[in-house]
Amino acid sequence: SRSIASLSALPETHQMLQKTCRDFAEAELKPVASKIDREHLYPKDQIKKMGGTRPYGSLCSRRVWGNWTRLFSIRNRDGRNIQGVPYYLCASTGVIMSVNNSLYLGPLMEWGTTEQRRNLSSPSRTATKYVGCFALSEPGNGSDAGAASTTAKDGGSCFILNGTKSWITNGYESEAAVVLATTDKTQKHKGISALIVPKPIEGLELGKKEDKLGIRGSSTCALMFDNCKVPKENLLGQPGFGFKIAMKTLDAGRIGIASQALGIAQASLEVAVDYASKRQAFGKSLLKLQTIQNKLADMALQLESARLLTWRAAWLKDNKMPYTKEAAMAKLAASEAATFLSHQCIQILGGMGYVSDMPAERHYRDARITEIYEGTSEIQRLVIAGNLIKELGL
Ligand code: CAA
Ligand code: FAD
Repeated sequence: SRSIASLSALPETHQMLQKTCRDFAEAELKPVASKIDREHLYPKDQIKKMGGTRPYGSLCSRRVWGNWTRLFSIRNRDGRNIQGVPYYLCASTGVIMSVNNSLYLGPLMEWGTTEQRRNLSSPSRTATKYVGCFALSEPGNGSDAGAASTTAKDGGSCFILNGTKSWITNGYESEAAVVLATTDKTQKHKGISALIVPKPIEGLELGKKEDKLGIRGSSTCALMFDNCKVPKENLLGQPGFGFKIAMKTLDAGRIGIASQALGIAQASLEVAVDYASKRQAFGKSLLKLQTIQNKLADMALQLESARLLTWRAAWLKDNKMPYTKEAAMAKLAASEAATFLSHQCIQILGGMGYVSDMPAERHYRDARITEIYEGTSEIQRLVIAGNLIKELGL
């Protein structure tokens, strides 16, 4: 295929896996992405197929995790992260997968007991059908995640959850949620704990499906808890360790969102180059116009810079080195690249960029969210600067 990605920079096994993922996206996601977006359809069949596709399910041992965990595991057999390509061509599918992988299964794998992994990674044992979600944000606090006001009171053998979590991706389809709630208000962020809440459950209601600018194939809704009883054995990690779990989980999640953004940016570049090669203006191909070439050069530059930052963050994570700052850099660079490239793509297509006959306008709408969720661009800058200052010992 006419790929612009610099595949040669990866080891051979990664290239093979990347190609398989790309082929899957071309064959299964590209034909439906526009319909999913227009009609707000959850890509159920595609998600199910991804669960049965080797690259998405090759890491986790069936014995421990059950089939459900295998659903979207995007690592190769060496356990290396392969991020980016799976999210290419349909950003809705990308976020559904990234949330399930990084924000639900991630903390469960990292901090869950064997029992929790067994019971909560595959609650219904139906396999390849369900996804998880992650509930941190609230109506009153998004960026200020430590101000969580949802409470989890001690109810003997259970925690009793009260409060509302907002904007929850996969809120409708998920079969379980990692929920951050305060078990001890006096301790501020040190009183936040992480619970795994199976869904549906008595005392939990879902809010309306948000009508969004982009990623319209993924559901986003509030989770409203009213005296919802969650068994004590569903506590993830130690009581009061929830904020740390959330922060560490988001470090990983930000690589996933960077990858989603790279997918949008890559797709925008490919649409732009393809169109420019076919469109004539003033008697020659758009590709021959230096102004268009300048735009393409800037687009390629931002894309490749963001890709390298994303690979670096993933590499550090794989090698168990600190990567908080690098994940924030990757997410910031890739989300700004997605916004820039999708904007330029519309410009290169002219009028055709503005109508839904072409995917450019969808990429433009999808790009916007990557600068908001899993920490806004302003928050990424805070994280980068905070870590930089710490590294300098100032
Ligand atoms: N890893 C480990 N620990 C961390 C950490 C990290 N990356 N970041 C902070 N901490 C620890 C600190 O070390 C500190 O620990 P101690 O109390 O032991 O000293 C503690 O957490 C508090 O740290 P801060 O004082 O820096 O915390 P803060 O209240 O100032 O907030 C913040 C920091 C970075 C702004 C954080 O609140 C944040 O990340 N906000 C953004 C929230 C966010 O990204 N939400 C995403 C929701 S999920 C989502 O959006 C999914 C989706 O769309 C698809
Ligand atoms: P606010 O925190 O109110 O911020 C408003 C503005 O102020 C922003 O520009 C922000 O950058 C700026 N700002 C705030 N504090 C500072 C500061 N200290 N310095 C500089 N600027 C600042 N959350 C989940 O928990 N789980 C999910 O699955 C999930 N999915 C989402 C899906 C979608 C489609 C959307 C829209 C959101 C989702 N979120 C989810 C919530 C998302 O993480 C928050 O919207 C985001 O973190 C920002 O929080 P906020 O909307 O409350 O904005």
